[in-house]
Amino acid sequence: MFSYTSAMASSTELLSRDEREERLESAGYNVFNLASEDVFVDLLTDSGTGTMSDTQWAAMMEADEAYAGSESFLALETAIAEVMGFDRVVPTHQGRGAENVLYGCLIEVGDVVPNNTHFDTTRAHVAENGGDPVDCPVEGAGDLDSEDPFKGNLDTECVRELADDVGPESIPAVILTITNNSVAGQPVSMANIEETRDLADELDATFVIDACRFAENALFIREREDGYAERSSAEIAREQLSHADTIVMSGKKDGLVNVGGFVGVRDPDLFERAKQRAILYEGFSTYGGMAGRDMAAMAVGLREAVSEEYLTARIGQVRALGERLRERNVPIYTPVGGHAVYIDAGRALPHVPDEEFPGQALVCELYREGGVRGVELGGFAFPNTDRPNLVRLALPRRTYHDEHLDHVAETASAVLERGEEVRGLEVVSEPENEALRHFSARLKPV
Ligand code: F0G
Repeated sequence: MFSYTSAMASSTELLSRDEREERLESAGYNVFNLASEDVFVDLLTDSGTGTMSDTQWAAMMEADEAYAGSESFLALETAIAEVMGFDRVVPTHQGRGAENVLYGCLIEVGDVVPNNTHFDTTRAHVAENGGDPVDCPVEGAGDLDSEDPFKGNLDTECVRELADDVGPESIPAVILTITNNSVAGQPVSMANIEETRDLADELDATFVIDACRFAENALFIREREDGYAERSSAEIAREQLSHADTIVMSGKKDGLVNVGGFVGVRDPDLFERAKQRAILYEGFSTYGGMAGRDMAAMAVGLREAVSEEYLTARIGQVRALGERLRERNVPIYTPVGGHAVYIDAGRALPHVPDEEFPGQALVCELYREGGVRGVELGGFAFPNTDRPNLVRLALPRRTYHDEHLDHVAETASAVLERGEEVRGLEVVSEPENEALRHFSARLKPV
């Protein structure tokens, strides 16, 4: 039996229905515009919103804030070497900082970069450096019901065809995102990681792993892949990354911290270039935009993240939310992934046409009904794509209790019961860059 007790507690209040209605309207029917005090259960993201352990807080108290050569950086370096197997570390302020540093070193104008599926910021950084980001999810990734164990995998044949098309010299890197955030947090198998290693060798490309959720991925391999049941998640976590040339990491996920990130590198030349670029954009190469205390907390968090007790509780909680929703006939993506449950808004609100954003309508309705904040990852967030209209309910780590899960499931079920009353939305104003519109666009009911 294992459970967490809170290292810090804060109260949240469920506003009255009238107040929620009023906040939603003034937020322009975009929950990114809500204040956190407007929200009762905040499932917008699992990024940087979790609870730190007492051991992490204790480490923060003893952190070293030296500009150069901070002891807390040395502690982080040691933790990364031991937990993830990378000796050369370039610290950054968060994951996208790491992406900026690494992809700025690897990608040139005209390059093509395949990924099992680019997360938004990855896509943006590849494009920013003149590259063409290409998604190669495995067949079946878009099937919301199949019970395949590793729907996050990379379709290596798709990458080979791409290489035949554009020439392998145009592919400087192959990226694998574990777990695959943009495919419902689905895991990637060790076999697929090994195949990707061979593929990268064939193409003479750098093999990059986006390791944000590497610990969660390891538990899935332990549970689902032949030959791994007797191995510890910590060992599997390390083995996964041993195949990569370089990793980009957002500490806000499996670093169990509120902010921070890094690039892990093997090649000494790439390390030097990445360090120089990081000094320009992030800060000196022994802090990279983090305070000493952020690095101290991550050094502890990385070790905690690969412990069996933590991972079982973490993945178990996400699964429990999925179960509660399924029991109430809420249509969700299955199997449930690592960090979030994804509701299929297309099926939940079939009367709302795609052009009226059923996903965003459901997000608004979950808030209106129960003060629950999720995020739309369908036609509103990704205009001009044929992505399914999914709503992500991401669970912050070590934060919510069973009662919160019940509340979320009951809220979703109540929305579905009166589903036909739910109206679609139209965009009233949006920023020039359509790719980032879901962060700031304003909408109104149709
Ligand atoms: N890569 C992946 C797979 C991510 O999920 C994220 C962030 C990043 C890179 C960027 O990291 O936020 O530290 O700059 N994902 C968050 C989310 C924002 O809500 O899924 P960051």
